[in-house]
Amino acid sequence: MEKMIYLDNAASTWPKPPGVSEAVKQAIDEHGANPGRGTHRMAMGASKIIAETRGALAKLIGAKNPEDVIFTHNATEALNLALFGVLKPGDHVITTMLEHNSVRRPLEALRRRGWIDLTYVKASRQGVDPVEVRRALRPNTRLLAVTHASNVLGTLVDIDAMVRIAHEAGAFCLVDASQTAGSAPLNVTGSDIDLLAVPGHKGLFGPQGTGALYIRPGIELTPLVYGGTGSHSEDVDQPAQRPVRYESGTMNTPGIAGLGAGVEFVQKIGVQAIAKHNARLIGRLHAGLNGIPGVRVVGPGEGEPRADLIAFAVDGVDSAEIGILLSDHYSVAVRSGLHCSPLAHEVAQTLDRGLVRVSVSWFNTEEDIDTCLAAIRELIPMLRD
Ligand code: ALA
Repeated sequence: MEKMIYLDNAASTWPKPPGVSEAVKQAIDEHGANPGRGTHRMAMGASKIIAETRGALAKLIGAKNPEDVIFTHNATEALNLALFGVLKPGDHVITTMLEHNSVRRPLEALRRRGWIDLTYVKASRQGVDPVEVRRALRPNTRLLAVTHASNVLGTLVDIDAMVRIAHEAGAFCLVDASQTAGSAPLNVTGSDIDLLAVPGHKGLFGPQGTGALYIRPGIELTPLVYGGTGSHSEDVDQPAQRPVRYESGTMNTPGIAGLGAGVEFVQKIGVQAIAKHNARLIGRLHAGLNGIPGVRVVGPGEGEPRADLIAFAVDGVDSAEIGILLSDHYSVAVRSGLHCSPLAHEVAQTLDRGLVRVSVSWFNTEEDIDTCLAAIRELIPMLRD
């Protein structure tokens, strides 16, 4: 089969670094017992894998205590745990037009239950204006839920400013780091972030089916899932201790083992080095796309900071058609459509035809970018005729 130029890393990074699939296999073959559920050697081995990954992830995001990092099955579950866990009837929530449906849908579900009032702060390609966020505050604002980077526009949000505003108003700040964890500096302690959701399978290079929520010490969330934790089994109530309070049921040990290898790789290369590499490729892509007639890039301008992705529209052409043709005729994998973030498409004015999103990771090269640009250059005039 022809080699695929994979440029859909914002959806899931591929390939994974050496050691990730080996760690998954080793967890299954050698540590296949249930972690935290027994005192025998194999169960202890499985527990050790989980503890080591928790420790490595805590270190990477600047969390003081590993037990404040809760494993989930993806960033969506982490966001749901945060939102359903922290919000109470009568609360007001501020969120933004850059959010993914993994934030918007749980919030809208809570609004339909009659629990919360919700304000969407307008966004632009430059990001979210702190003045607008401040203006949206109410006496009962309990949470500001904001993404670190739009998965559509690539726009970065000033997280420190968001946390400051939330805290000045006595509210919590939940940060969705789905597009930045592992490829942009993050420090939950330094930034005083209350809740941070990360996927395991994107910039952290773990397998799909992994994710985590950081919960600042002292914040009490209502669990999302109740059940066996392997501890305090005589008690009818969910244990109070982290992380087990929020991790009922058998864990995804193989996935977490792979995530551990992914985080180790990120630490070895360094987040700054990964960010620099990705920014160089995105810059090359941006310059190339800007030179193609009919292509309209959305989000921050050339040379401005952005996440590791860039999306474009071609007037009069459906983004899905471009995505399919790039895959079928050029073996270039991108993601087209609405990217589960319709409000960001409202900002870009691309709700009707969607956008073609190209996203990079550590294993992409300049040659990948040039091949992708050459394909787009050849394809677009044919589609516009
Ligand atoms: N949220 C992921 C994306 O943006 C899946 O593609």
